[in-house]
Amino acid sequence: MLNKIKDLIFDPYPLRTLAKQIVKKFGAYEDRLKLGAVDRPEYGYCVYNAAALAKKLGYKRISVLEFGVAKGNGLLNLEYHAEEAYKIFGVEIDIYGFDTGEGLPEPVDYRDLPYHWKKGFYKMDVPGLQAKLKKAKLILGDIKDTSKEFFEKYNPAPIAAVSYDFDFYSSTVVALKMLEADEKYYLPRFFCYFDDVLGTEIELYNDFIGERLAICEFNQSHENIKLGIPYHFLENKVIQPWFNKIWIGHFFKHSRYNDFVSTEGQ
Ligand SMILES: C[S@@+](CC[C@H](N)C(=O)[O-])C[C@H]1O[C@@H](n2cnc3c(N)ncnc32)[C@H](O)[C@@H]1O
Repeated sequence: MLNKIKDLIFDPYPLRTLAKQIVKKFGAYEDRLKLGAVDRPEYGYCVYNAAALAKKLGYKRISVLEFGVAKGNGLLNLEYHAEEAYKIFGVEIDIYGFDTGEGLPEPVDYRDLPYHWKKGFYKMDVPGLQAKLKKAKLILGDIKDTSKEFFEKYNPAPIAAVSYDFDFYSSTVVALKMLEADEKYYLPRFFCYFDDVLGTEIELYNDFIGERLAICEFNQSHENIKLGIPYHFLENKVIQPWFNKIWIGHFFKHSRYNDFVSTEGQ
């Protein structure tokens, strides 16, 4: 009851919240997604827009990756959004989830925030999750090893959306290095979600540790691939906290980067 009252006091858009509850029950997927009336709207946003861009560029099949799977709630949610996006755009979506299967490894140094994370957090129930997954593939092992063989072993359809949720700087650096693979494995632009970039007064995330440092260093060291901030969110009337966890990947030298995808006759 107290929590309900607190929610009411701190809700700047109570009418919108009410509309969201109604749309969540009765609305079509695209309306629910637009209003944020879905589970993990940030995942839905990335998958939906990845499929929309793929459709415009004429790709029939794309891949979506999750770095850091843990209990698998994110991967199951990606399956849901991929199914909905397929119904709208007719683009097939493969899903891959990367994880040790054994939880977090030992933090390497201060950049992995050992004051917040410990080895073994987020251990996976591998058979339990495998039994629940409909189509997503689990890539088990340390990303240091699995990243080396992923492209050759799976020959994935072009990657169009990625959730980076490894928590650690050291693991995220390796995941980002995978962007150096052949352009055939990527759409010219792709949608990224970084889970550990806001946090609380405990994590105190900043540009010098964690996932934010991995992003900064990646951008500094790659002239032709950049992870950019999605300024278009600032056009929205209602700003959601997760907007600040989205980046857009750009491959400036991708052979399809300049293909026209906008409105004709402007
Ligand atoms: C916070 S959990 C992921 C949660 C999940 N994305 C979700 O939304 O439910 C972080 C995961 O990253 C994995 N991880 C961290 N570093 C890794 C590495 N070097 N290789 C593989 N997995 C790693 C851990 O095993 C852990 O399960």
